[in-house]
Amino acid sequence: MNHADTSPPSMQRWSDDRFDAMRRQVLAAWPTGAEADLDEAAAYHRAQPPAKNTAHVLAQAREQSRTLVQPRAGVAEIDPQIALLSRLRAAGADLLPTTVDSYTRECRYAEAERGLAQSREAGRSMLNGLPAVNHGVRGCRRIADAVDAPLFARTASPDCRLTHEIMYAGGYTSCTAGPVVFSLGYAKDYPIARAIECWQYSYRMMGAYRERGVTMSVEHYLPISTLVPQSMSMACVILDSLIAAAQGVRCISLGIGQQCQLAQDAAALRAYPRLGRHYLDRFGFHDVALSTVMSQWMGGFPPDEGQAFGVICMAALAGYLGGVTYMISKSPHEAFGVPTAEANIHGLTASKMVLRMLADQRLAPIAEIAAEQEIVEAEVRALVDAALDLGDGDAAAAAVRAVEAGVIDVPFSPHRSNANRALPARDWRGAVRLAEFGNVPIPEPVRAYHREPWELLLADVNAIADGVLLPE
Ligand code: 5AD
Repeated sequence: MNHADTSPPSMQRWSDDRFDAMRRQVLAAWPTGAEADLDEAAAYHRAQPPAKNTAHVLAQAREQSRTLVQPRAGVAEIDPQIALLSRLRAAGADLLPTTVDSYTRECRYAEAERGLAQSREAGRSMLNGLPAVNHGVRGCRRIADAVDAPLFARTASPDCRLTHEIMYAGGYTSCTAGPVVFSLGYAKDYPIARAIECWQYSYRMMGAYRERGVTMSVEHYLPISTLVPQSMSMACVILDSLIAAAQGVRCISLGIGQQCQLAQDAAALRAYPRLGRHYLDRFGFHDVALSTVMSQWMGGFPPDEGQAFGVICMAALAGYLGGVTYMISKSPHEAFGVPTAEANIHGLTASKMVLRMLADQRLAPIAEIAAEQEIVEAEVRALVDAALDLGDGDAAAAAVRAVEAGVIDVPFSPHRSNANRALPARDWRGAVRLAEFGNVPIPEPVRAYHREPWELLLADVNAIADGVLLPE
């Protein structure tokens, strides 16, 4: 790759020649790359029942106003992964995850191979997810052939190109995605322009499936485990969605993380389809199907299982009030690390229980949600418009320049380019606001909401793990 960091990237659709040239390099990085054949894989997908395609299942859920639930799950070997997914499916999982291990996320396939060998020897997973590239297309298809619901590749890093080649060819139809969200959320040194190039490759690959009659989906969500105003993560997601659509992606889920302030969480989810539609339409991407997704609380969880269930059930309520299409569930063991299958199932069934009980309740509109929706819409428009201005109307250039300018400024981002001038805190009702704006262009009419009394930030960060929303 040529990383000319001085000239900003462009969102323009890649030529087939550019894609093909890079593809040869990508597939050569590990022997299983040779198994990825787009024509053969598209034929495989076309022969599958629609119930195994994410885009189809999400469209059905939107039509029926149903909320789906997906846990997270990934172990080193194929047969245990199939066993785990079968249990989660039997417990009600609507969408089936495969969390990819950390070596694979960093393209360290030789180390993943060693972890896989150690797992075989130990008879239990020594990796924190499935090393999908090492298993290859054939290994992934064994999973796909064993399940009856859509499969999600859950991997989060700036460069997932080979993992996507293998997993999409292996029967997966969706992934967690985004150059802006994963750079700012997880990376320290990876230049955003380079991450955009890697993701444009992945998005173009999905476009190539679309041209062969198969719709592939992506989930965009900024994975930060502390307080980030919903408008900031939504602006990042919208920029990533424009970059994806430009390469031919036609099914996008717009994500937020639960911040545990019910009105704000629901409002963000309610605002999302309108905001997403507004920007995608502006660029002519009228045929992109939009869903919403909420990740249950990504911050510190209370170690007490009952309290953890409280957070999980509150997430389900927020998702219901926000009309969310699907939710990523947590487990009551979250405070201790990767959950056992039992704990994972309990997080899933608690979430589904709340959603089922609420399904037909048709609660009256809640004034606080409507008020927060106006605030969040105004903020997202101000952020995205300012970013697009900086990018001269190009979403890829906008992403790079908006981060440089501190217009996009994600509190607590590990990334070197992030300005770190915006400082969040909860107001007296627990809503996440900015105590310091930095260069974030919060529009004048809503600035007043950010000037309400503040709680101490550090206390806020630990509050939920300590069993409260606001410190005493
Ligand atoms: N299986 C299940 N959950 C996982 N998580 C990370 N890896 C796995 C895995 N292999 C979960 C963590 C945390 C979230 C970010 O992902 O427990 O909740």
